[in-house]
Amino acid sequence: MTKKWWHEKVAYQIYPKSFMDSNGDGIGDLPGIISKLDYLKDLGIDIIWISPIYSSPFVDQGYDISDYRQIAECFGTMEDFDRLLAEAKKRDMYIVMDLVVNHCSSEHEWFKKALADPDGEYGKYFYIQEGVDGHAPTNHRSYFGGPAWEQIPGTNKYYLHLFAKEQPDLNWNNVAVREQVYDMVNWWFEKGIAGFRIDAIINIGKKKNFITHEADGPDGLYNGNDVVDQEAAKVFLAELKEKTFDKWDAFTVGEVFDITSDDTKDLIGENGVFSSMFDFSAHIMTFGEHGWYDAPKVENVKWRDVLFASQQHVEKMGGFASNIIENHDEPRGVCRYLQDYAINDYGKKALAATSILFRGLPFLFMGQEIGTENVVRHSIDEYDDISTKDEYRKAIEAGCSVEEALKACYDNSRDNGRTPMQWDSTPNGGFTTGTPWLGNNPKYEYINVADQEKDEDSVLNYYKKLIALRKSEAHVKTFTYGHFEPMCMEYENVMAYKRVAEDDSETIIIAANFGDKEETIKLDTTVSEMLLSNMKDTNVCGKVEITLRSLECIVVK
Ligand code: GLC
Ligand code: CA
Repeated sequence: MTKKWWHEKVAYQIYPKSFMDSNGDGIGDLPGIISKLDYLKDLGIDIIWISPIYSSPFVDQGYDISDYRQIAECFGTMEDFDRLLAEAKKRDMYIVMDLVVNHCSSEHEWFKKALADPDGEYGKYFYIQEGVDGHAPTNHRSYFGGPAWEQIPGTNKYYLHLFAKEQPDLNWNNVAVREQVYDMVNWWFEKGIAGFRIDAIINIGKKKNFITHEADGPDGLYNGNDVVDQEAAKVFLAELKEKTFDKWDAFTVGEVFDITSDDTKDLIGENGVFSSMFDFSAHIMTFGEHGWYDAPKVENVKWRDVLFASQQHVEKMGGFASNIIENHDEPRGVCRYLQDYAINDYGKKALAATSILFRGLPFLFMGQEIGTENVVRHSIDEYDDISTKDEYRKAIEAGCSVEEALKACYDNSRDNGRTPMQWDSTPNGGFTTGTPWLGNNPKYEYINVADQEKDEDSVLNYYKKLIALRKSEAHVKTFTYGHFEPMCMEYENVMAYKRVAEDDSETIIIAANFGDKEETIKLDTTVSEMLLSNMKDTNVCGKVEITLRSLECIVVK
């Protein structure tokens, strides 16, 4: 694998609306982010991905962009953004933006012009088709529920939107669209950003013909993903890379859901279209058959097995995945992947170590470093997220009680990740002096940055040690490029693996017991050094047989 500047780094995702508010309007902003750069630096972060901060009507929280070259007013100005770039640079940190180009906002001038003249130049920027017998061209469903086609008022024409109707899909077959995107991408690189996280990107490839299918749900619709063609997307992505990313030695990470297919080679192998892609394999195993309301509970063994499978697959493909336990589209990892008895500091630390020391780029999501948990909300009105509202409706329609539907939202809602950052125990968790745009998680009183900074044994300080260990001169090569090898597969509750240095100079074992009883595991050689433990009095040096207490996690040489 060719070595890249970003391989040895650690990344962190900021959901800007909820990170830090500097002016009391209840919305996080760029000056707020700047004020926390030292905090992130101290944590060991190098790369910061900021979810969209462009002009937007915020129907899908900024993933509906109305001007790709403007900063949304609520976040600040372009001067603030330039200052952020400069301040990050001073600290040897890199800013990664969100590239949302499968669709734009219905408020974007391209779309306004398309509506005004659907057969004109800008009509060709979108997928606009004639209706059939007074209906939409096909019966595809949008990912947020309801039809994927919206009628253009006063016509028999419809436009395609795989997401909300305010997010019309851009037509990548049109070379003018592609040129617009490449110009814009290069414009941001000229400003000094280091790369992009690339949103919903496989959707840019579409099949030649869209066909109506027999309904797959009571709404009479059919999965919208059917119109997507991954092969077509790869062709566009290769061009995007050549015309933009390559010129800047950029870091790019794709939001692609299937990491275990042979396609991974084309996506992130030696000549892949992205630098990296997220490993969503654990997230995918939590999908319910019909929605959040029938989502299965994660079992330790299945969870470990899917993660190990992607670790092995990506290494075989010569790629470098971006490893996450949560993001702004997911509930908090500690509530999702830890069993109920494990949702405490020990479990949180074990989850941290096993994830951060995987092969690939560790990507933290804001608040993960303090073990932020899901937030209890008492009514659907307390949620903001468009997909939470849709999933709640689905649950109620399927016969769930209000209580059950709210429980499904507690367990799965995207707003769990979008809830304001918990900085301290003062009102609103120190996030804002005003009224937060989305209600705080009352748990900020006991889960917050300020308290954890003072407590040597906190989850936050453990994350710092863990990241420092990963990046330490002695071991950074092993953790970055070392071979991944599963261990102890016969123990259902143990997640254990080796990282073997490329030159065989050292082997590091990461072993965690996620069960509620102790487990004794056997190694094939004695432990020479203990690098990290999440418990006191761990004594493993010189041993071959190791008894791991419930939720104990060790990192040893
Ligand atoms: C991605 C984003 C998500 C957004 C969607 C549409 O999945 O992560 O937040 O809703 O794309 O842009
Ligand atoms: Ca603000």
